[in-house]
Amino acid sequence: MQVGRYEIIDVIGTGANSKVVRAHDPMIGRIVAIKLFSPGLAQGAGRDKFLQEARVVGQLSHPCVVTLHDMGIDEATQTPYLVMEFLEGQPLDKLLGKGSIPLPRACAWVGEIASALHLAHRRGVIHGDIKPANILILDDGRVKLTDFGMARLASHDKKDTPLLGTPAYWCPEQIIGRSQDARSDIFSLGVVLYEMVTGKRPFDSDSLQGICTRVLSSKPLPVSQANPSVPTAFDSIVAKCLEKDPGHRYPSVDLLAAELYPLARRKPSGQPQAHTSTFRERATRLLRSA
Ligand SMILES: Nc1ncnc2c1ncn2[C@@H]1O[C@H](COP(=O)(O)OP(=O)(O)O)[C@@H](O)[C@H]1O
Ligand SMILES: [Mg+2]
Repeated sequence: MQVGRYEIIDVIGTGANSKVVRAHDPMIGRIVAIKLFSPGLAQGAGRDKFLQEARVVGQLSHPCVVTLHDMGIDEATQTPYLVMEFLEGQPLDKLLGKGSIPLPRACAWVGEIASALHLAHRRGVIHGDIKPANILILDDGRVKLTDFGMARLASHDKKDTPLLGTPAYWCPEQIIGRSQDARSDIFSLGVVLYEMVTGKRPFDSDSLQGICTRVLSSKPLPVSQANPSVPTAFDSIVAKCLEKDPGHRYPSVDLLAAELYPLARRKPSGQPQAHTSTFRERATRLLRSA
């Protein structure tokens, strides 16, 4: 099977609106990951919208955002596709299935995702579907955000998409059908951070209606009560992300990143690490992402 010039090797995953495959690029001679959408997405006016949205996403270049190499619409099948760097790792939702994440590591990962989101937000792009399944943890410990703008991209052939996907990470404004902005991503990132540190979702219920009601009106148990090893100072950071009113959240995601970085440097005992080791960690990260 072939899509564009790429030779499909196998299917990695199948989602609601798309399928991810591993493929070979014969021109460059490398393995890539390709996201394939349904042909309906690029029909009629959808074609230009798809190409335009993909262009916006493709122009985001950040070490913590999955790189888009190429995009196109396959001539034979009219299948729209995005060609991405192939990454060895696993999505955060799988990792969370094995238990919670130590606070310093959770803060480091979410801090890096926040810095990637900040770049996008400054360009007027919101992610729109922040959830553990869209955060890849690479085998070397780095973290990458995927499916940027994908919720919007996939919504062109459907009218009701704001309420597609998993509701546990939706923000209140999404549920009530108000417009979303950068602060909506901050809310969803707060839900992810809460779940990483406690192993529990802040707004959980066994029905969709129940989850929506909780997102809209319930205040979750403070993180330090759900996980007593977490310092109470952390409670206010998560609570500020999870404010119902966007006006009460962090106005910008870099302010969240700035609060998380000092916690990322702490040892589990709560003692900040020596400056030299912090510097080395940073230098290693920079070298890795160069
Ligand atoms: N760039 C990539 N490299 C390697 N695997 C990927 C890549 N992007 C996605 N995957 C894997 O493909 C599977 C499905 O991807 P996902 O983005 O979750 O699809 P969807 O959002 O359509 O459900 C996941 O297991 C994910 O880890
Ligand atoms: Mg996804």
